[in-house]
Amino acid sequence: MHGTELGMSSELSARDRLIVALDVPDPRDAEAMIETLGDTVTFYKIGYQLAFAHGTPLAAALASAGKRVFLDMKLHDIGNTVARGVESVARMGVTFLTVHAYPQTMRAAVAARAGSPLRLLAVTVLTSYDDADLSEAGYCVGAKQLVAERAAQARAIGLDGIVCSGEEAAALRQIAGPEMSLVTPGIRPTGIGHDDQKRVVTPARAIAAGADYLVVGRPILEARDPRGAAEAIVDEIAAAI
Ligand code: C5P
Repeated sequence: MHGTELGMSSELSARDRLIVALDVPDPRDAEAMIETLGDTVTFYKIGYQLAFAHGTPLAAALASAGKRVFLDMKLHDIGNTVARGVESVARMGVTFLTVHAYPQTMRAAVAARAGSPLRLLAVTVLTSYDDADLSEAGYCVGAKQLVAERAAQARAIGLDGIVCSGEEAAALRQIAGPEMSLVTPGIRPTGIGHDDQKRVVTPARAIAAGADYLVVGRPILEARDPRGAAEAIVDEIAAAI
């Protein structure tokens, strides 16, 4: 990852490596969860559900309040439209923004965030896609190869990180090099249900595989004691780094 204000990954604290996905229906639910989690959580992810329910002002407010925000908007459009969108996101003060790993989209995003602290994460191939889904969508390449090719392009174009599963992290670290951040969802602490995630890894395994940041939603949001659940994950990360 970039050795700027986010620090090299080896300097990141266990706490700052946990990103809680605010997958809740509206900003009031999000604010209640943020209040419950208090100082335990420093980094939040806002995706479609909350962003399209008046959640973008909350992203800016969290950033102003000193929390880090990952806006998971997975942008992809013509270059000019991507660039204008990235400029608007950069003004919100968020830390991470996702874009699909198409070269035009990535180049436009990298140029547009120049001079801002916004860091761009590439989505290579959605983890819900297997080889058959790619074939149906017109691709003549398998998922594993396409992930590798797009990760290499993301690095060459100057993206700051890649969203990947815990299982992909070790292989992608070879392609991404030491500078890029690997951001990993699909995390389940031992003994917690898998929900609809098919390929899950524990926090400790994801860190051991080279992940810099872990994205966790339901194991914290649906816990009887969300703060305790988050603290336990921070402890597991701390033991693994
Ligand atoms: O609740 P859970 O911990 O499964 O939430 C994971 C979060 O990470 C969700 O916000 C989901 O959209 C996101 N995500 C994922 N798998 C990916 C990419 C993102 O689960 N491949």
